[in-house]
Amino acid sequence: MKPTTGEIAEFASLLRGAGRAVVFTGAGMSTESGLPDFRSAGGLWKASHGFEELASRNAIETSYAEFVEFYRWRIQTLNAHEPHAGHRVLAEWQRRGLVATIITQNVDGYHTTAGAARVLELHGTLRHVRCENCGGERPSDEFLRVDGFCCPCGGKRRPMVVLFGEMLPDAVLAAAAKAIETAQLFIVLGSSLQVSPANSLPELALVGGANLVIVDREPTPFSSRASLDLRGSIGETLQAVEGLLGCAEQSRQAPVSV
Ligand code: APR
Repeated sequence: MKPTTGEIAEFASLLRGAGRAVVFTGAGMSTESGLPDFRSAGGLWKASHGFEELASRNAIETSYAEFVEFYRWRIQTLNAHEPHAGHRVLAEWQRRGLVATIITQNVDGYHTTAGAARVLELHGTLRHVRCENCGGERPSDEFLRVDGFCCPCGGKRRPMVVLFGEMLPDAVLAAAAKAIETAQLFIVLGSSLQVSPANSLPELALVGGANLVIVDREPTPFSSRASLDLRGSIGETLQAVEGLLGCAEQSRQAPVSV
């Protein structure tokens, strides 16, 4: 499945015509980098029910050794892969003023690594760890060292991600809502929109009068309300749209031949 030429052209036109566009990404944004998502066939929560249990606050108390092993594996996996062309297209659209803010559920830091500037990480980041006892924060590479899970204060370290059983940081959620308030276009890339409160953001955008564009391999709960609901690869779709926008950008910048 891939979007038609007409759909790509409509996506480009919506983006060019929107005063402010906000992008909202889920794990589907990083599968083409080699990272698993959660609920697709090969997704993390499908691979083992135990993984979902380990991604919880409870696991720090009840099975900390397995918790450390699970998150060391996730940190090593994202260190072994990198952002793909789709991440770079979004960063370029931000540089050109086509996209204002990127709101992500992802914890891989790939938008920032790809050069994006204004990124709101709703579910935190695997790039840093924090001590449960003293709150001390360190880069997650330290968590990979033999005793790196233990803080010098003796406390348990854990990644700075929002675990099941924990609340999203109010400040980030408020910043996301503020970014959406003035958006004329809300682009959802690779999220099943199953998890609250993140999955309330498309509703907020629609209520604010924004057009909704969705790119996903599968239909989502908001597909019927989208101005454009595209089935296909995020990376290929973003590059196809950039192919149209980029040409227009070049002709706009080209010196007028006299
Ligand atoms: N191109 C387009 N769509 C894709 C691609 C791709 N290359 N790869 C995956 N997808 C789509 C899947 O079809 C699916 O709809 O991305 C979506 C991923 O959905 P989930 O796996 O549920 O991930 P996400 O929506 O980000 O989950 C939200 O749930 O468990 C929590 O904290 C976790 O942040 C995560 C949250």
